[in-house]
Formats: sequence, structure tokens, C-alpha cells
Amino acid sequence: MDKDQLEIYRYFLKDTIRKKIAFRFTDQNQGVPAPPAEKPAPAESKRVDLPGPKDWKTIARTDLTAAVANRKTHRVYLKNSLCLEELAYLLWCTQGVRGEITQGHAYRTVPSAGCRHAFETYLAIFNVDGITPGVYRYLPFSHQLVFEFSDPMLSEKMITASLGQTYPGRSAVTFVWTAIPYRMEWRYGLAAHKVILLDAGHVCQNLYLACEAIDSGACAIAAYDQEEMDALLGLDGENEFAIYLACVGKIKP
Ligand SMILES: Cc1cc2nc3c(=O)[nH]c(=O)nc-3n(C[C@H](O)[C@H](O)[C@H](O)COP(=O)(O)O)c2cc1C
Repeated sequence: MDKDQLEIYRYFLKDTIRKKIAFRFTDQNQGVPAPPAEKPAPAESKRVDLPGPKDWKTIARTDLTAAVANRKTHRVYLKNSLCLEELAYLLWCTQGVRGEITQGHAYRTVPSAGCRHAFETYLAIFNVDGITPGVYRYLPFSHQLVFEFSDPMLSEKMITASLGQTYPGRSAVTFVWTAIPYRMEWRYGLAAHKVILLDAGHVCQNLYLACEAIDSGACAIAAYDQEEMDALLGLDGENEFAIYLACVGKIKP
């Protein structure tokens, strides 16, 4: 391995950069308005209202210790569908809003450095009751799905964009988390990028644990074709790009 390259990549893992940044020059400290905490969706877009925590009837109470002990990666799923409530539950557990939304700012069910929450959640939906298969995006502030597009070749395209791994195209639903890095850079400048990745780990772990409550399994995926996945989701690959995936499907209880 190239020693200089190793140094650069290991530097990224460290927090040394914090000592080198003049935080008074970050956009936040220069008075630049904060970017939206949720990517806006066109007013005329098709939306699906999701049941919230108070409406859930099928989500079993789960012992946290058992969920942690049983969590493991599942790559093979039953043909059974997820119900809408279960999908709503997974979305709430991974990016749901906790408490009040004030001035476009909200705490969520997962932690985030500086509460900047730099992610959007896209879903390739294949087998969820009452939802036409296609690509959707979660709107945490209104707890809704917004329809993005449908594609008869979505399954095949997800597999190709996942470097031939089949489960992202054979799941009930595959989550694709994208980063909008400026949300974090606005506050932390060049110290933003490491914490974006740390944040992503929390999100996916919550997905794994939530799956334990609904007889489902998840597989985290970090090996994918960046350019193909971004193109598939219609992202510019610069200001927003895929950073992590996870597929979910029903498993034997
Ligand atoms: C960051 C990360 C990336 C991963 N990427 C992939 C992947 O691309 N494909 C895959 O099949 N599994 C992937 N996995 C799942 C791991 O292979 C799995 O977590 C590991 O083998 C341990 O198994 P366990 O989750 O059952 O404990 C990933 C897991 C993590 C945390």
C-alpha cells in the first residue's frame, strides 16, 4: 500500500482536522442561512401518508436486549410483503422526528453531529402492501412518502448498481441513504465528512434492531457502484449522493 495515500485516508478517520479549521469562517458563523433540513418535494408530487407511532397496531413490543442479541445480517427473504405500518415503523426508527419541529430544526430518533442530519432516505419498494412498486423518498417532517418514479427494470437496475449483489433487488424494500453534505459543512466546514459517516452507522443499526420487532431481516450494503446508483436515483452526485444502502425483507419468525 502506498504510504502517503494511507496517511491521507487515515487522517480522515482522525479528528486532527478540528485543530486546523478556523470555525469562525464556516458558513454558519459567517451568517449564511441554514440549508433546508429536509430536501423539498414539489407541491404537486404524489404523497403517501404514513401511520405514526400512536396509530401502530401490529408492531410488537420488543425486548431491547433480545433485539441486540438476535440482530444479524439477513440476505434471503420470504416472499411475504411488509405492511405499510411496518414500513412506517422502519422509517420512523431510522430517521423519524422526535419532538417539535422548530425553525426547520428537529431532533430525530437517531443522533447526529450537531443535529445536522445530512441524510435523505430513498426507498426502492418492491413488496409493501398498498404501495405501487417504485422509488420513493421519506419526508420525516410530515411522516410521508413522496413518489419519485417507477421503472419496470428497477429490480435489475438495483442489482447492477449494487455490483451484482442480488438482495437489493429481491428485497421487500431497499433503503438508500443519500448525503447532502452541505447540511453538515454549513456548520463544520471540512470537519463535516467524518461525522456524516458516523451518523450513517446509527441509522443502519436502528434499522437492524427495528427489523427484530417485525419478523424482518436487513443487510447493510456499502459496496455499490457510486455513479450508477446516483444516476438511478436522479442525483447530481456532487451535492447529493448515495452513501449507504440496506435491504429489508420478511424472514421466518
Ligand atoms: C458498513 C457495512 C458495510 C457492509 N456492506 C455489505 C455489502 O456490501 N454486502 C453484504 O452482503 N454485506 C455487507 N455488510 C454486512 C456485513 O457483511 C455483516 O454485517 C458482517 O458479515 C457481520 O455479520 P452480522 O451483521 O450478521 O453480524 C456490511 C456491513 C456493514 C456494517
